[in-house]
Amino acid sequence: MLTNEEVIKLLQPIEDPFLHKTLEETGGVEEIKIKEEKNHVSVKIAVAKTNTAEQMQLQQEIVNVLKGAGAATVGLRFTQLPDEVIQKYEQTAKKAEEAKLLGGQTDTTFISVASGKGGVGKSTVTVNLAIALSRLGKKVGIIDADIYGFSVPDMMGVEERPVVRGEKIIPVERFGVKVISMGFFVEDNSPIIWRGPMLGKMLTSFFKEVEWGELDYLLLDLPPGTGDVALDVHAMLPTSKEIIVTTPHPTAAFVAARAGQMALKTDHDILGVVENMAFFESKLTGEKEFVFGRGGGAKLADQLQTEVLGQLPLQQPFEEEEVFAPSVYQEDHPTGKVFRNIAAKVIDKTS
Ligand SMILES: Nc1ncnc2c1ncn2[C@@H]1O[C@H](COP(=O)(O)OP(=O)(O)O)[C@@H](O)[C@H]1O
Ligand SMILES: [Mg+2]
Repeated sequence: MLTNEEVIKLLQPIEDPFLHKTLEETGGVEEIKIKEEKNHVSVKIAVAKTNTAEQMQLQQEIVNVLKGAGAATVGLRFTQLPDEVIQKYEQTAKKAEEAKLLGGQTDTTFISVASGKGGVGKSTVTVNLAIALSRLGKKVGIIDADIYGFSVPDMMGVEERPVVRGEKIIPVERFGVKVISMGFFVEDNSPIIWRGPMLGKMLTSFFKEVEWGELDYLLLDLPPGTGDVALDVHAMLPTSKEIIVTTPHPTAAFVAARAGQMALKTDHDILGVVENMAFFESKLTGEKEFVFGRGGGAKLADQLQTEVLGQLPLQQPFEEEEVFAPSVYQEDHPTGKVFRNIAAKVIDKTS
C-alpha cells in the first residue's frame, strides 16, 4: 500500500515535458488521493501544455511508476500550470534549447540583423557591428545566414577557407571576429540552388558543426525579407534579439516594418533600428544632403516601439593599401564611430 509521501517522492523527480523542470520545481503535483481498500491512487498533475502527445507520454510514465511501486489502479487528471510558473521557466527552457546549438553555452546573445528588402546595408551593418563589438572587447561571431546572397567573406576581405579539425569546422577569424558563410563552401562563386529542407539543415550545421568557442555575441546576417530562412532562425533561436536595417525613405521603412512585425510576432526583442544611407555629407561644405529621403528610421522605430540605434552616412571606408576589407569601416572613420556608439548601446541593452 502506497502512502501519500511515497507517491510524492515518486512523482517529484519526473520532468515537465515542456519546461524540462521537475514536477517538484514546477509544483506540478497538485493533488493526491489514495483509496486504501482498492489500492487505487489518483493524482492531478499540472503541466505547461495540456492535451499534447507529450502529455500522453508523461501519462504513461506516471502510470508505470505508480504501478511499479505497487498501485493496483491509477487515476490521472491533467491541468495547466499557472501562467506565472510557465513564464518563469519558459525563458530558461528556451535558453537551454539554444545552448545545445553552441555546445552548451548559455551566455551567448544572439542578434539577428534583418531588413525588409535587399541592398539596404544589412550585411554592412552585421559586419561592422560585429567588429565594433569586438573592438569593445567582446568575443563575437557572425553566421552569414543569407545562404543565396552570402557576402560577408567578401566584405571583410576574407581570403582563406575554414579548416576542419576532427569533426568540427573551425571558423575563419578576421578583425577578431569569427565568420562562417555559405560562400566558404561554394566553388568559384557559382550560384547555388537549395531546396527548403536543406536550408534548415545548413543553418543547423552552421551552429552545431562549427567550433565557435566561447562567444559573447553571435550575429546572424539574415536573408532579406520574411522568407523561410528568416522563419527558421526565429524558430531555432527563440531568444534572439533583433536589429532592423532600413534606408531613410518612408516607403523603405514601410517595407522594413514587415520584418519587424515578424520579429514581434515570434517574440524576438527588437534592440532597435539602424538607418543606413541616412545622408550624404559634403566634404567641401560639410552640408548634409538627404539623398534617399528622411524620417524612415524614426518612423519605423516608432511603429515597432523601439529606438533608432544610429544613422549611417553614405560613405565608403578609407582606402588602405595594406588591409583589404572593402566594407569594413576603420575605428577612426566617421562611420566607424557611429558603429562604436551602436555597439555600446547594444552592449548596454543586452547586459
Ligand atoms: N552607408 C553606406 N555608404 C556607402 N555604401 C554603402 C553603405 N551601406 C551599404 N553600402 C553599399 O551598398 C551595397 C549594399 O549593402 P549590403 O550591406 O550588401 O546590403 P544588404 O546586405 O542589405 O543587401 C554594398 O555594395 C555596400 O557596400
Ligand atoms: Mg547582404
